[in-house]
Amino acid sequence: MTLSIDPEATTGPSADRERTANRLLTASARRSYDPELDLDWTAEEIDGGWHWVPERLSLYGTPMWDGLTQEQKVTLSQQEAVSVASAGIFFEVVTLQLLARYVAGRQATERHAQYALTELADECRHITMFARSVEWGGNTVHRPGPLTRTLSRGLAHTAWGPSMLGAILTAEDIMDMFNRENMVDERVQPMVRQVSRIHVVEEARHLQWAKEEVARQVAGMSRPALELHRAIVANATVIVARNLVNGAAYRSVGLTPWKARRVARHNPHYQATLRWSASRAVAYLREVGLIGGPSELLWKRAGLI
Ligand SMILES: [Fe+2]
Ligand SMILES: [Fe+2]
Repeated sequence: MTLSIDPEATTGPSADRERTANRLLTASARRSYDPELDLDWTAEEIDGGWHWVPERLSLYGTPMWDGLTQEQKVTLSQQEAVSVASAGIFFEVVTLQLLARYVAGRQATERHAQYALTELADECRHITMFARSVEWGGNTVHRPGPLTRTLSRGLAHTAWGPSMLGAILTAEDIMDMFNRENMVDERVQPMVRQVSRIHVVEEARHLQWAKEEVARQVAGMSRPALELHRAIVANATVIVARNLVNGAAYRSVGLTPWKARRVARHNPHYQATLRWSASRAVAYLREVGLIGGPSELLWKRAGLI
C-alpha cells in the first residue's frame, strides 16, 4: 500500500499528526489480524490450564482464594477472563461510537481521520475476537450493570477532544498491561495467549496515535477546560476499572458476589494489581496534565493511584 503524502512538506503539529497517521496506516496495512482466519477456534482447551495469570486474579492470596479447590481456581480464572473480554466488548463498542463522532468532525482526506477509521475497523474485529473467545470456552458474555450502561451511553454521546481520546487510550492501556502478561505466561491457555498477542500488536498503534494527539490537544488548554477533561477521563477510567470483574465470575464458583467483591477490594494483591494495571496510563496522563486537580481524588478512591 502506497500513501501519497510528502512527510517533509510541512512542519508543526498538523504535519506531525499526518506523519504519524501515515506511518500507522502503512503499519496497519502490513500487519493486521482477522479473528476468523488467524485463530483456530476448533482448538481444544489445555486441561487444567489457567485462563489468566493467577497472581492477577482479584481474590488471589486471600483466605477466600485458599478455600477454593484447584478446579474452582481455574474456573474462576476463566470467568475473570470472560469478565475482562466482556468489558472489552462493551467498552470497544463505546469506542466505536466515540471514534465515529471523531471522524464525523474531520476531513476524510486527512490521514489522521483515515487512521481513526482504521482503528474503528480494528475494534470491530476485536469485538468479534473477544466474543468468539468467550464462546470458545463455552461461556456467555457478562453484561455490565445498569449504572455502567447509562454512564457509558452518556460518555459515548458527549466526550470530545482530549477526554474522548484520553478515555479510550486509558482503557486500552489498562487492558494492554494484562494482555502483555498473559501472552508470555506459559501457564495460560494458548488461545488466551494468542488473543492477547493479537490485541497487543494492534493496540500498540492505537495507543501511539491517541497519545501523540492528546498531547497536541492539551498543549495550551485553559485551566477550566483542562479540569473538565481531567474529570471526564477520571470518571471514564473508574467505570472501566469497576467492570474488570463481573459478579457472575464469583457466582460461577459458588461465591456470593458482594462478599467476594468486598474481599477483592481489601485484597492487597489485587490493590497492587489495579495500581500496576493503570501505572503506565497514569504516568502518561500526568505528563500531559490530564491527571491533577480535584478529580485526582477519583483515581485514588478507585485504587488506581
Ligand atoms: Fe481493541
Ligand atoms: Fe484500541
